[in-house]
Amino acid sequence: MTLADVASALASVPLFSGFSQKQIRLVAESGREYKYKAGTTIVEDGSIGLGFYMVLNGRVEVRKGPRVLARLSHGQYFGEMSLIDGEPRSADVLAVEPTECFTLSTQVFSALIKRHPELALLMLKEIAGRLRAAQT
Ligand code: CMP
Repeated sequence: MTLADVASALASVPLFSGFSQKQIRLVAESGREYKYKAGTTIVEDGSIGLGFYMVLNGRVEVRKGPRVLARLSHGQYFGEMSLIDGEPRSADVLAVEPTECFTLSTQVFSALIKRHPELALLMLKEIAGRLRAAQT
């Protein structure tokens, strides 16, 4: 993917809906894309959290042992929890089909949240939604 492709993928994502084109481009420049084959564990339950991931294409499953907690696809993200609380990863996240993710390092993620606190509010809403879903 070119930088322009990544920027346009990020621009289509609700989390970045309030961002200008210039801001989106800065985010795109601060991260990296990774491709995963189906079956790859992207994030491992209990490991140290080192990054934030957004699904550009493909599909992942969030799993706790045998339980599937969520299925995430384009525009949805994972890995924010460990970066927020500094605790180990709370679940496994696996690619269930060929998947491409955009990733930000912990440092870039923290700087982005400080510069754009509205992202923290959007993530809080998402976490609340995931908590509610987990309770039903
Ligand atoms: P983190 O704990 O860093 O790594 C595993 C990720 O899975 C976690 O961040 C969340 O992004 C995601 N996750 C954990 N629990 C759930 C859930 N119940 N529903 C959706 N996503 C989850």
